[in-house]
Amino acid sequence: HRQPSSSEESESSGDSEPEVPDPLQPETSTGTSMAQLPPALPGAGDGSTVPASRPPTARPPAPAATQPRPLAKPAVFVPVNRTPEMQEERLKLPILSEEQTIMEAVAEHPVVIVCGETGSGKTTQVPQFLYEAGYSSDQSIIGVTEPRRVAAMAMSQRVAKEMNLSQRVVSYQIRYEGNVTEDTRVKFMTDGVLLKEIQKDFLLKQYRVLIVDEAHERSVYTDILIGLLSRIVTLRAKRRLPLKLLIMSATLRVEDFTQNSRLFSQPPPVIKVEARQFPVTVHFNKRTPLEDYAGECFRKTCKIHRMLPAGGILVFLTGQAEVHALCRRLRKAFPARRCRPQEEEKDSAEEVRRFKKSRARAKKAQAAALPQISLDSYSVLPAGEGDEDREAEMDDEEAALGSDLDLDLGDEDGAEGGEQPDASLPLHVLPLYSLLAPEKQAQVFRPPPEGARLCVVATNVAETSLTIPGIKYVVDCGKVKKRYYDRVTGVSSFRVTWVSQASADQRAGRAGRTEPGHCYRLYSSAVFADFEQFPPPEITRRPVEDLILQMKALNIEKVINFPFPTPPSVEALIAAEELLIALGALQAPPKGARMKQLQSSRLSCPITALGRTMAAFPVAPRYAKMLALSRQYGCLPYAIALVSAMTVRELFEELDRPAASDDELVALKSRRARVAQIKRAWAGQGASLKLGDLMVLLGAVGACEYAGCSPEFCQANGLRYKAMLETRRLRGQLTTVVNAVCPEVGLFVDPKMEPPTESQVTYLRQILAAGLGDHLARRVQSEELLDEKWRNAYKTPLLDDPVFIHPSSVLFRELPEFVVYQEIVETTKMYMKGVSTVEIQWIPALLPAYCQFSTPLEDPPPTYCPETGRVQCHRTSVFYRVGWALPAIQVD
Ligand code: CDP
Ligand code: MG
Repeated sequence: HRQPSSSEESESSGDSEPEVPDPLQPETSTGTSMAQLPPALPGAGDGSTVPASRPPTARPPAPAATQPRPLAKPAVFVPVNRTPEMQEERLKLPILSEEQTIMEAVAEHPVVIVCGETGSGKTTQVPQFLYEAGYSSDQSIIGVTEPRRVAAMAMSQRVAKEMNLSQRVVSYQIRYEGNVTEDTRVKFMTDGVLLKEIQKDFLLKQYRVLIVDEAHERSVYTDILIGLLSRIVTLRAKRRLPLKLLIMSATLRVEDFTQNSRLFSQPPPVIKVEARQFPVTVHFNKRTPLEDYAGECFRKTCKIHRMLPAGGILVFLTGQAEVHALCRRLRKAFPARRCRPQEEEKDSAEEVRRFKKSRARAKKAQAAALPQISLDSYSVLPAGEGDEDREAEMDDEEAALGSDLDLDLGDEDGAEGGEQPDASLPLHVLPLYSLLAPEKQAQVFRPPPEGARLCVVATNVAETSLTIPGIKYVVDCGKVKKRYYDRVTGVSSFRVTWVSQASADQRAGRAGRTEPGHCYRLYSSAVFADFEQFPPPEITRRPVEDLILQMKALNIEKVINFPFPTPPSVEALIAAEELLIALGALQAPPKGARMKQLQSSRLSCPITALGRTMAAFPVAPRYAKMLALSRQYGCLPYAIALVSAMTVRELFEELDRPAASDDELVALKSRRARVAQIKRAWAGQGASLKLGDLMVLLGAVGACEYAGCSPEFCQANGLRYKAMLETRRLRGQLTTVVNAVCPEVGLFVDPKMEPPTESQVTYLRQILAAGLGDHLARRVQSEELLDEKWRNAYKTPLLDDPVFIHPSSVLFRELPEFVVYQEIVETTKMYMKGVSTVEIQWIPALLPAYCQFSTPLEDPPPTYCPETGRVQCHRTSVFYRVGWALPAIQVD
């Protein structure tokens, strides 16, 4: 091995360097925008001299004797005491033959990209190479980021085992758990954890090397990390505290990293690891099954097991619920010798409990009396040193826990032939998905019982993050569960869609790791031809207001200058910045300059104190605003419950579906009537009814928790059980965040939430109005009726067409003049869902950003007096977004 140069050694290990104030820390107010970040680093940043003209090579040439050798120091080899068996197993991995090349590239370049097929050994071996070459010390360690928790945990265990070291030395950290100690030298973590660490120490001084793994997934947080790290590497080089960055990818498509001069002015070298891959025969279905891909997976797996020679089967499905359903069906059809069929279900429930418990482990400080704060000054929680992060955003399967409901999985007990227990070979069926406990995950890496065939039913976790040994057959449903973002609300949901060609090929590749294999695609080649080639990077297909907020919280003001590997569109950036300004999370540019400034794309508004608080909450900024405002009048627990329920969405079962038969129609109708009755009861009367559908949500959460959140209660009241579980999980999580941000609040989840008082209901309505300002709608008055299609319709700032209150809303017949809505859905008409009423006087006070005032702007802003419910204002307001003239506001 070659070593970090002597100069590096002394710098990285010594505290001798005087502490220079960090220009990127908040306290040194001025030096915080990207404009002041150094530009992309030309060539090496380590003080090593690499010829600037050197082109990126697939493999950096072995340094000739004449080339400058930056690493004159003799190797300080850190011995690792592996077992002979482990060593033998390692030697089989293709990446071992590239060790020299990789370590030389790392020594010479600040940034190196390693590409290699899944299973070639990148994740498990590269950290070991670095460790052995002395890239870690007590002060500076090796960090590895993974987009998924599963991988962070499993890989730290595996590497510890391979190196014969304890998990005190090779550790992991995910959001709420970890085993990092002062002895830790290699730390696996999710990218969310590292992003949070950057907020605390921009230079990441505790790391000597950072490995960003699974970069091909192009998750938003991976992309942002790479952008940030490109600058941190430069800054660290300037500070003479060099940091090495390795980007590891399963595909060769890395142009976004190498051909992006804003990111790295000198393209980093790309080292390709040749994998030993056996041929895989791909079989397409003649026909693409339309709906029942889970059933098709079952039939195909049975066929393979009955008819084809030995070899493990790997089935790709989209979510945890599907995985369990198929496991049950397969176990029933092919009982294993010592089968314990109930265990997995029990485990799955235990998973959920385990996570909930770890989340509820919030400090339960004594409940302090909540200070009385009035609404006219937006009081915010102090932004603190919270340990929370936004990791759940990235953990697909886990986050989708409550979103599995859209899938009809009722087929596991189907009465088709072939489900009778089969006397053939036993099948050793194992599930694999993100939330699965680490012990259970580890099972897939062990050989199956003697004489049984291994069958792993997995989500796309098995696509590139984890490699299962002994797989010869792959069954690919061709689908993946993806997060989609609602254009109207910015709220995300999960949908099952076709994978990309690149993903399908990755899946197929899993069959050829140890011998020639077969991949069964449950779709036709014509369908495959229509798949997109690569999945577009996540950042280009979602609204970015939450990201922009997070970046501003990192003091990156000129987001437009940020070196994104793939930047979001300027329109998306402007829309995000405008929303954040309106929410008060960003400082508005000076009056008059605003439009010009925004249009010239100089997006550089700094974050406000409110924005910092909002950034701490792992929910959409609109909802974060509600939470930040709700530490008043004891509203916080209700706001948390509401935001959780709104984020989960669709707490009630779908009753609008068309009926297949007359009988079903009758049943549906009576069910609808019953649910409507329950909703009315939860909505209450008078003040409470004004909170509308959001009062129904509060009622549902409260009542359901009171009943212990049982499936029976949900069934009886038209609630979706999984959605209620997810709401509960999110309530716990948000409570933890609030406690971390603001420990003196000492909040804990009181399942038996008392109903809010009348005045609390009013405050909640105001909080909703303040968060959903761009979702304000006004009923078209009779004198304004242009034609019949506008009868009972509302006008909104976002749409030209009439919108209506959804018939399922408790305000359907009330027709209040002003409402805010949670989302608009389009069926036969545009319908608003999640509707709550707004009083006209609140608009100028709570939503000044949306108002245009007719009197000079130097006037003091309107103030709101909660005691009298009056707004003090000496002018007429106009709601400019739609040009509604509001009547003159009451002048006190
Ligand atoms: O990161 P990459 O996909 O290149 O490969 P890896 O995750 O480092 O896996 C290298 C090898 O280690 C594979 O053959 C896995 O099957 C094996 N492995 C294992 O046997 N047990 C684990 N817990 C993890 C990996
Ligand atoms: Mg890997």
